[in-house]
This record gives sequence, C-alpha cells and structure tokens, in this order.
Amino acid sequence: MCGIMGYTGYRQALPLLLEGLKRLEYRGYDSAGVAVLESNGIFLKKKAGKLAVLESCLNGCQPAGVVGIGHTRWATHGVPCDRNAHPHLDCRGELAVVHNGIIENYISLRAELSGNGHRFLSETDTEVLPHLLEEIYQGDLLASLLALLPRLHGSYAMAVMSLREPGRLLVARRDSPLVLGLGKGENFLASDIPALLPYTRRILVMEDGEVAELWPDGVKIYDASGRQLTREAFPVEWDAAAAEKAPYPHFMLKEIHEQPRTLRDTLRGRMEGGRVLLPELDGAATYLRQCRRLFITACGTAFHAGLVGKYLIEKLVRLPVEVDIASEFRYRDLLLQPHDVVVVISQSGETADTLAALRLARNLGAKVLAITNVLGSSVAREADWVLYTWAGPEIAVASTKAYTAQVLLIALLSLHLAELRGTLSPSEVTGLAQEIDLLPERVAQVLRQEAEVASLAQRLKEHEHCFFIGRGMDWAVAAEGALKLKEISYIHAETYPAGELKHGTLALITEGVPVVALATQLSLLEKMLSNIKEVKARGAWVLAVTADGEEVAEEVDACLRLPPGDPLFLPVVAVVPLQLLAYHVAVARGCDVDQPRNLAKSVTVE
Ligand code: G6P
Repeated sequence: MCGIMGYTGYRQALPLLLEGLKRLEYRGYDSAGVAVLESNGIFLKKKAGKLAVLESCLNGCQPAGVVGIGHTRWATHGVPCDRNAHPHLDCRGELAVVHNGIIENYISLRAELSGNGHRFLSETDTEVLPHLLEEIYQGDLLASLLALLPRLHGSYAMAVMSLREPGRLLVARRDSPLVLGLGKGENFLASDIPALLPYTRRILVMEDGEVAELWPDGVKIYDASGRQLTREAFPVEWDAAAAEKAPYPHFMLKEIHEQPRTLRDTLRGRMEGGRVLLPELDGAATYLRQCRRLFITACGTAFHAGLVGKYLIEKLVRLPVEVDIASEFRYRDLLLQPHDVVVVISQSGETADTLAALRLARNLGAKVLAITNVLGSSVAREADWVLYTWAGPEIAVASTKAYTAQVLLIALLSLHLAELRGTLSPSEVTGLAQEIDLLPERVAQVLRQEAEVASLAQRLKEHEHCFFIGRGMDWAVAAEGALKLKEISYIHAETYPAGELKHGTLALITEGVPVVALATQLSLLEKMLSNIKEVKARGAWVLAVTADGEEVAEEVDACLRLPPGDPLFLPVVAVVPLQLLAYHVAVARGCDVDQPRNLAKSVTVE
C-alpha cells in the first residue's frame, strides 16, 4: 500500500504535498518522493526512509512550481531505496508518475519498452507507466492515459503530469483508492480524504475504471472510453485526526472491513488455471519435497494462524507439523534435523522472539521460510525464502486482516506442498484452489451481518469471563477469537478444545456464563453438539458460529451463520464474526480499541 498526493493551483506545491503525505504515512513509510513542475523542467526529490528524511533533504529547496505530485511508499516491487521511490519519470524527464497498486504485467511491458530503447532506473512495476506514456503521447495527456489503461493488468491509483501541459494533472483509478478535493483556483488529489482536509472539505470520490483531469479552475471525470461523467462533490464534516480511519471510528473496524480486498491482494497473481503459483519458493522445491517434518513458530495472532496451518498441512500434505510459540521454541532443546523446514510467521517481521527463533533454527542448520507482511523486515531479510501476505499496513494493535491473510497464504502453501509432494492430484488441487478463490466474497458476506453481531455484543459486555470452544481447526479459530476479546475488551476469555472441557474447566460453567462455540467442521459436528449440550446443561449462554449446522442452531441461544464452503478453509471466514464481536464488546465497554492498555503493535523486545 502507498499514499499519493497531487496539487494544481496558485500556491507553491511542495509544502502542500509534504503536508498531505504526512497524513498518508499510515499507508506506508519506507520511502517518499515529490515532483514539482518548474518552468525549466521537473524538480524531483525522492528518498528512502520516512517522510521526515525527505523533508530534511529538501531543507532549503523552495521550488516555486504550483503543480506537483508526491508519494509515500510501502514497497512491493523493489526494495525501499532512493531509486525505487516514486515519482518515476520517462526517458526525457518530461512526464512524472506516482502510483499506488501493482502493475501485474510489468515484466512483459518492461521487456517491450526496453526493446524500444527505454532506459529503466528502478526495479519497480510503476516505472513502466511513464515510459509507456512517453511512447503513446502525442500532445494530449488525457488521450494518452485513456490509451494506456487497457494495456495494464492489476491495480492502480495513479497521478501523471507533463512538462508540456503545465497546470494539468491526470489521474486514473482501478482497485486502489483515490479522492479529489475541490478548492477555489486550486484542486487536489489524494489516496485518502485526511490528506485533503486542511485545504478543502469538498470531496469527489473516484470510482474504479474512471479517469479525471484536474486544472486549477476545474475537475472533469471521464469513463474509460473518455465520455465525461457528472459527479457531485460532497462535504466532509469529520475532524482531520479522526478522518484517517474514516468513515470508520477505529482502525480496527476499518481493517476488519478491508479483508475482502486484502484477501484478494494476498491471492493476486498466485493462482492460475486452478494451480497455485508461488514462484518465491522455486529455490526451495528440493527441501520442501524432501523434508520429513515442518515446524511453525510465531507469536500472538500469528501463532494462531500457525495452529490452523498445522491442521491444513497435516491433512493435505500428510506431513507432520509441530507448532510452537516462538518464545518457547527458542528455549527448548530443539530436535531439529537436516532437511527440517521451519516456517516463521510474523505480521511485522520484527517480533524479537520470532526473529530469535528464526536465527536459532538457521544456526541449527534448518531452512527457514518466512510469512510476513512487511517487505524488507528483519524476518524477511534473514529467512531463506519469503512469502509476503500483502495485507497492507495494519495500524490497530489487535491484528485482523494480517491474520486472515496469513491463514489464506498457508492454505495456498498447503496446496503448493501437496502438489510438490504428490499428495493431491492436479484435479483435487484445482477443486480446492477454486474454494480458496471464493473466500474473499464469503468474508464480505459475513461482514454484512455486523448489525447482528453488534447486538450480541450487548449481551456479552457485562460479563467478566467468557469461554471459547471448538474442535480441530475450530479450536484454533476459537483461540484467536478469545485473544481478540481479551486484548481489546479486557474480558477474561479462555479457549478450550471442546472435548477437554469435562476434564476440569466445566467446573467454571455456571448459570449465564457465556460460551462461544465454533462448529464449522462437518466431520466433528456431532461431537461438538454433545459438548454444546454439556455446557447448556450447566446453564451456559451459548453463541454458536456455524456454517450448516441446523441442529446446532436449535440447541443454542444465538447463532451466527457462515456462508457454506469447504470446512478446510472456513477458518478464514469463521474468525471474522469473532473479530466483530470483540470489537463491538470493546466499544460497548468504552475501551481504547486501537491502542489497548499494556500492548504494542510490534514487540521488538523479548
Ligand atoms: C504483538 C501484537 C500482536 C501480534 C504479535 C506478533 O503482540 O500486539 O497483534 O500478533 O505481536 O506480531 P507479529 O508482527 O510477529 O505478527
């Protein structure tokens, strides 16, 4: 994810761009850059590191230009460095482009453009854009952009300016956010509304497939064929600080709702014709084929994703998997053998215990495969192989979209391993891959039940204790649901494999005690029903989460229904109502949802 900002008007562009980018830094902050149109050329400055680094480099530079574009980056293609930072220019230095998204066919475009003599200075996918425009350009930037877009696969919010058409900014959007801000004698563009609020509250939201041109005195929006559209601006009334998560009151809720999109981003480019493509693991094939055991290690939510992974991999790959909390893994007498592969999972890629576990595993001769969300993080740099989750920066301390992305990626990894090791036939892999492809839409369906979950939260909010039960993968999902509730609502929540309750914990189930029962695994449904009856018989108030359990619904006090699907992949869907439940309980109890007490997003100490 990245942030883009643009300005055309009568004021010096540079300070406005920097101010706007500051408000977009939550979208990514590994490098930043600005381009300003000057009468004698394009003023360009870009720097690795946070925006503050760019600002200090600019110290003293005051380009007078009144048109400019800027970018704050969360690297995807190419490491964070000055060269890969945006904006990118064409060969003549006359066109500048900033881009948020991924141009999936950039390799073939780049080869074609290089063949035509274009010189590339970065490793980014974005740099094909100014060069393609340079090829197409015949004096009209709008016509050039309309001709360029059909050649692109992937996602983009992009802004373009040309030395030959001063005053004019062009933008286009597909699958990446983009808003326009209307001023008097000046107009703005940005990835998100907060960047614009110091300057204007009249906002136009661009839709997918649209192109717009901005001049100081007006804005015009077009469809992909160049037909002009009419669109009313709307007034924004939020205050600037809260608006960063707008229209959501908290980052956690925003991130929960982003999941259909982040899951699609995780899948993007990784499935083709019913096959799973993980080219990042090409060099690992021999190890993955030969290893006799897999270890998964992680902390917190990522550990819970690992628990789901154990069930998936053992089932589909018939390979024994041990899952360990990283702070335990690193201090036990590990029996790692040559050919063992250790999978470390970390959203931030910086968690101290996970990093230490990774180093230990490598010291003991094992190979390490990292699953992480942050490009160039320590975990990513030190592992033998890396799979990125592409969930975008996660700001709320309680992890949501990173977890579902991790589980989804492990599901893909399972299919990849099953193919490599021949435990599934190609047609079985295709069938399962099709199921995986449906998960983003299923998550979207669950999000539509939010009002129902919010009313159930009212029932839970007065309690100080709550139990989460499930069997098999449901138990792993229950553990994540309980963690969410604990960390943001401060309700004590305990997770139990449902069959284990009777060996002690059942003593705590008394009249009215809330029990959240996960019952999504068809093969375990009857067993789960017995456990639900056990707690009901002791007076528990039971909320079930189930996909197709008609009988379950009849036994419990409240039931949340998931869209049916292969139970193997339901953890990605089943956790979503639990995230919403924790969120609404925390709000009802007046807790600080995004920054719960005593916790931190990234724990870089042991
Ligand atoms: C912290 C966060 C958790 C996270 C855990 C592991 O405790 O608050 O949300 O699950 O660290 O973080 P990682 O970045 O390694 O996934």
